[in-house]
Amino acid sequence: KKIQDQILVIFGASGDLTYRKLVPALFDLYKQKSLPDNFVMLGVARSDFSDELFREKMVDGIRQFSLSKDAPQADVDAFADKLYYLSINTEDSKEYTKLTQKLDLLDSEKNTEGNYLFYLSTPPNLYPLIPKFLAEQGLNKAKGKIRRIVIEKPFGTDLKSAVYLNKGLLADYEEDQIYRMDHYLGKETVQNLLVTRFSNSIYEPLWNRNYIHHVEITAAESLGVENRGGYYDQSGAMRDMIQNHLLQLLALVAMEPPTVIESDAIRNEKLKVFQAIRPLSQDDILNNVIRGQYTAAKVKGKPQKGYREEKGVNPDSRTETYLALKLYIDNWRWGDVPFYIRSGKHLPTRVSEIVIHFRPTPLNLFIDNKEYCNDGNILVIRIHPDEGILLKTGMKVPGAGYKVKEVNMDFHYSQLQDTYVPGAYERLLLDAMLGDSTLYTRGDALEAAWRFVQPILDYWKNNPEAPLYGYPCGSWGPNVADSLIEGKNMTWRYPC
Ligand code: BG6
Repeated sequence: KKIQDQILVIFGASGDLTYRKLVPALFDLYKQKSLPDNFVMLGVARSDFSDELFREKMVDGIRQFSLSKDAPQADVDAFADKLYYLSINTEDSKEYTKLTQKLDLLDSEKNTEGNYLFYLSTPPNLYPLIPKFLAEQGLNKAKGKIRRIVIEKPFGTDLKSAVYLNKGLLADYEEDQIYRMDHYLGKETVQNLLVTRFSNSIYEPLWNRNYIHHVEITAAESLGVENRGGYYDQSGAMRDMIQNHLLQLLALVAMEPPTVIESDAIRNEKLKVFQAIRPLSQDDILNNVIRGQYTAAKVKGKPQKGYREEKGVNPDSRTETYLALKLYIDNWRWGDVPFYIRSGKHLPTRVSEIVIHFRPTPLNLFIDNKEYCNDGNILVIRIHPDEGILLKTGMKVPGAGYKVKEVNMDFHYSQLQDTYVPGAYERLLLDAMLGDSTLYTRGDALEAAWRFVQPILDYWKNNPEAPLYGYPCGSWGPNVADSLIEGKNMTWRYPC
């Protein structure tokens, strides 16, 4: 698809996301020659910046966070010339006339054909307002021109607010104008899930309850909440990671093959997965959902604060910084196969991966072999770091007898030496500019994911004494989570 000339308007332009992710990703697109010939990025926020000061700040972000951070200064300067800034109070509808005027001006000066892409990277309380104010200015629709709106996560804080937000958006925009961001979907390895599953004939026959014993999905982080305590304390691991990123991974692992690789075909299949997740009963929530909160400890000799001591966090907070849960997908493919999902802050390492545990052979012929446990092959799909795919298989140790050893068939993206692997924001920004929503979440699927999560949130709210386990910084979360995985000698994979 040829990319059309356009203006990208980023609301929340003075914020961290613009500085660390969005503008560095735009610069990467510029370096890859993927931006349209006529392109402008207009940053909008309340803070007072001149174009020059804004550019200076953005260049600083590029130098730290872009994949092309070592690019020659001339390239950075040429790119920075495309950045502009407008200071308005985005909560005040009247101020939007200034935006319209600025857009008219930039559009006629830079020949961007009246095409506008709006990106909301503001505090979430503005998500219902900004699209409405844009619509009041008539900026939501223009025949033959691009009018799209990208909304950062979190999309709602619960089912009700997500439904409300969708409804408000759909009053002024068509679904195909709305791009709901989940940056996990922009990760190359996440997209590769579809290719692994549907371009290889060896996996599909095994990818079901007959051959898969259980599936693990982990997103572990080694850092704490850093300077985001205020936000995180209202959010917790469930809203911050599970409801969006991890359930999206689940959908890609569990979905049926689409009939074509097209946005709605793929998103229809993902929706069906969310609809088929078995709702958790109160007993399930009590037994199969484990919450934890990190406590002060030394990690590699360095003292780390407990969560309740973090800036912006309520000292009596019961917000979870770790969550592990077990769920089932009630359909023909997955009947009774447990899926285990976990995410946490201040764990021993930063890793996101999906682990498919195949069933063991029907009979263990090498039973005397103590080194080989024959619990079944595992396939590890590594989202990051060290992106790749690993299959563990048994192999005979050369020599007398039948000694079996587990060996790895291992592929790392880093082996593709000359291939450029775009960052998640780079890929997703480009898709929104191109008008491809495949890697964005659709409103109905998002609501379906909230529908699964909501009873758990309600349960915690109504039962404040429900267990919340402390775990020391640098550990793998509460010990009780180890026993969540069913099966003899079975527990999580603990990657190092
Ligand atoms: C964000 C969460 O959406 O994802 C953060 O708000 C989290 O808390 C981050 O750290 C993780 O993303 P990644 O790409 O580093 O795994």
